[in-house]
Amino acid sequence: MRTSRTARAIAAGAALCVAVACAPAPGSQIDDAAVAIPGVAATPPMGWNSWNSFGCDIDETTIRAQADALVSSGLAAAGYRYVVVDDCWYSPQRAADGTLTASPQRFPSGMAALGDYLHERGLRFGIYAGASEQTCAQLSGTYPGRTGSAGHEATDARTFASWGVDFVKYDWCSPNSDLADQKQAFVAMRDAIRATGRPMVYSINPNSGVTSNGEVPGARWDWGGVATMTRLTNDISPQWTTDTGSSGYQGVADIIDASADATPRVSAGRWTDLDMLEIGVGTSLTAAQQRSHLALWAMMAAPLVAGNDLTVMDPATAALLRTPGVLAIDQDPGAHPATSTTADGSVRTRELSGGRRAVSLSNRGATATKMSFTPTTSGPVHDAWTGAVVPVGSDGTITVTVAPGDTALFETAPGGSDQ
Ligand code: GLA
Repeated sequence: MRTSRTARAIAAGAALCVAVACAPAPGSQIDDAAVAIPGVAATPPMGWNSWNSFGCDIDETTIRAQADALVSSGLAAAGYRYVVVDDCWYSPQRAADGTLTASPQRFPSGMAALGDYLHERGLRFGIYAGASEQTCAQLSGTYPGRTGSAGHEATDARTFASWGVDFVKYDWCSPNSDLADQKQAFVAMRDAIRATGRPMVYSINPNSGVTSNGEVPGARWDWGGVATMTRLTNDISPQWTTDTGSSGYQGVADIIDASADATPRVSAGRWTDLDMLEIGVGTSLTAAQQRSHLALWAMMAAPLVAGNDLTVMDPATAALLRTPGVLAIDQDPGAHPATSTTADGSVRTRELSGGRRAVSLSNRGATATKMSFTPTTSGPVHDAWTGAVVPVGSDGTITVTVAPGDTALFETAPGGSDQ
C-alpha cells in the first residue's frame, strides 16, 4: 500500500525502485511548480525567530521586546525584518468553529494585535504551525493539545492571513515519514496560502519527528516547488559540530557539510534553509566560528534568521549580524549558492551578479593557517568583512592568515578585459 501511494504521489523525478520499494531519485523535485508562493522572497528571507533562545517560553511581552530591539539595534534596517513566533503561541484547543486561537495567557491581546505592532514598526509577522496532527512541542509533550493543521489547512491559512501574517513556518512533527503523506500535507498548505491571496513566505521543515529511522526528507529531495524555503537538516544547536549523525542536533559545520549537495535546488523564491543562526547564543561557538557561521550561510544563499536574545545582545554580536559586505553576498539577486573548490569545503566560490564573485577561505583546523586563492579577474578585490581593498601578490594570488574556525571572505569585481 505504502509503495504504490508513494509512487503515485510523486509526479516528478525518476523513481528508484529497489526490490518492492520505490522512491524518487535523490535530489529530484517533489513538485514541479516554478515557485511555491509567487511574489515573495526574491532574496533569502531575513529576520528573527523565537525558538533558539526562548523555546516554548514565549509571550507577547517577549516578542514585542525582541521586535523593539530588532529596530533599535539597526538589524531591521540591515534587512532582518521577519519576526517569527515559533512553537507554543496557540491555545491547546481549537475554537468551536475549528479555528486556531492565541493562548489567552501568553498572547492576551491576540495575534492580529501583534501583527499590527510589528507592521507599525516596519517589520513582518511570522508564525509557526504543525503540518501533521501535532506541533513539535505537542509531540514531545512540552505543550498540551493536538492543534496540528492537517485537515485544517484552508481555515488556518485564512486565519493567518486575517491576522496579517507574512511568513508561515510549517513543521512536520510526526513519527510517520511517508513521503506521499508529507507531500500531501505540505502542498495542501501551499495551496491554502495561495488561495488567501496574501503573499506569505512558506517555510517548511520536513525533518522533525521522523528521525528514529534516520530519514531527513528535507535533504533528500527538492521541495522548491512546494515551499519558499525548506529546512535541510535536523535542528541546529549552538555548537560547531555534534556527533549525532543526521538524526540528532546539528552543529554549524555539520549543516554546512550537509548543504553542499543541495545547491542545484536554490533559485529565487526556492531557498534551502540551513536553520536559524546561533550567533550570540550560548558560549560554545568562538567568535571566529560565529563569523564562519554568518559567512557560510551567506555563501550558500541561505535565509538569515537570527536566534539570539536581542534585548541582551552585545555590540560585537550586533555588528557581526549587520556586516554589510557579508549580508550583500547573502542577498545577491543572482541566487547562486557557492560551490566548493576543495573536497573539505575550505575554499568556496559564489557567482554574484554583475560578474562579481565571492570567495571564502575557511580554516576548520585548530591552528592559524595561511590560505590563498587566485582571483580570476583583474578587477579590485575587497575584504567582505571590512570593505578594504586587498592587495594581490606579485604571483597573482591573495594570501591571508586565517585563525582557527574563522572564514576570510572576499568579493572580486570584474576588471580589464573581464568587464
Ligand atoms: C522543530 C523545529 C524547530 C522548532 C521546534 C518547535 O524541532 O525544527 O525549528 O520550530 O520544532 O517545537
